[in-house]
Amino acid sequence: MKYKVLLTHELFPEVHEKLKNHFEMEIGAEGKDEIIRKIRDKDAILCFLRDPIDREVIDSAPKLKIISNYAVGYDNIDVEYAKSKGIYVTNTPDLLTEATADLTWALILAVARRIVEADSFTRAGKFKGWEAGLFLGMELNGKRIGIVGMGRIGKAVARRARGFGLEIVYNKRQRLSPDEEKKLSARFMDLDELLQTSHIITIHTPLTPETNNLINRERIYKIKEGAILINTARGAVVDEDALIERLEKGSLFGAGFDVYRGEPNINPKLLKLKNVVLLPHIGSATTETRLAMANLAADNIIAVLSGGKPITPVW
Ligand code: DGY
Repeated sequence: MKYKVLLTHELFPEVHEKLKNHFEMEIGAEGKDEIIRKIRDKDAILCFLRDPIDREVIDSAPKLKIISNYAVGYDNIDVEYAKSKGIYVTNTPDLLTEATADLTWALILAVARRIVEADSFTRAGKFKGWEAGLFLGMELNGKRIGIVGMGRIGKAVARRARGFGLEIVYNKRQRLSPDEEKKLSARFMDLDELLQTSHIITIHTPLTPETNNLINRERIYKIKEGAILINTARGAVVDEDALIERLEKGSLFGAGFDVYRGEPNINPKLLKLKNVVLLPHIGSATTETRLAMANLAADNIIAVLSGGKPITPVW
């Protein structure tokens, strides 16, 4: 008898085919209730970061052997509980590093040079000729970028920062080796000092109990006057309400978000602000990256249901 796999959302036809060659597949489960209904008889689930895989879901799947997350982050899964039940949890690390770093830079440039505002202005037929003060932005060359979380993506952001002539400082729970710091031309800095002195702050920590609300209200108010904040990590790392207050007061240059607290819901106040650029969580959204992620997520399931070890285990 074939093992049964639940794929919560469609991926790529070739990945569906690959899984169908091995398993009985069911595709489509939106929200926790539907996942609970459909996971009961499944041996594996391939899920998205928007799918909550908590105790209740895990308890409703007595045959489950692996939870394969189609993402590098896995804060949507109760990993400890899955582990206590002997269910593997896997993610898709490495593959999306460069795409997410590119998108971070797209946001930095879009905010610093007011690209979205200027595009709307031009489309609205308001461009009547070159003007000295039209859409003045923030020059990057010579400024300081503060990278919060210097893992794979933070480092890829740092590598790109050198090309833009920025001074690089970073904060991380465990400091990098002197060799790595030298290679990246990056200097370790205490988090509060980083916030107080960086012109651009970009968040690259995973969401964990320690990083939940890391950039809290008090820290938001430490951010340098006129700075830019970019978040392509997880919304819950930042106190959005406090950040919005500062943006509304005009005491920050602007902000760029790919992720939100409680997404896909977005604080309506954010939608009203001109000095923010808002994206729908597309950090890893290139065809190459998403296909590679889908293949790895499928291969993790094939490996485990064939009796082997997962390729990229979270545990
Ligand atoms: C991830 O994989 O965790 C990203 O947020 C998806 O783009």
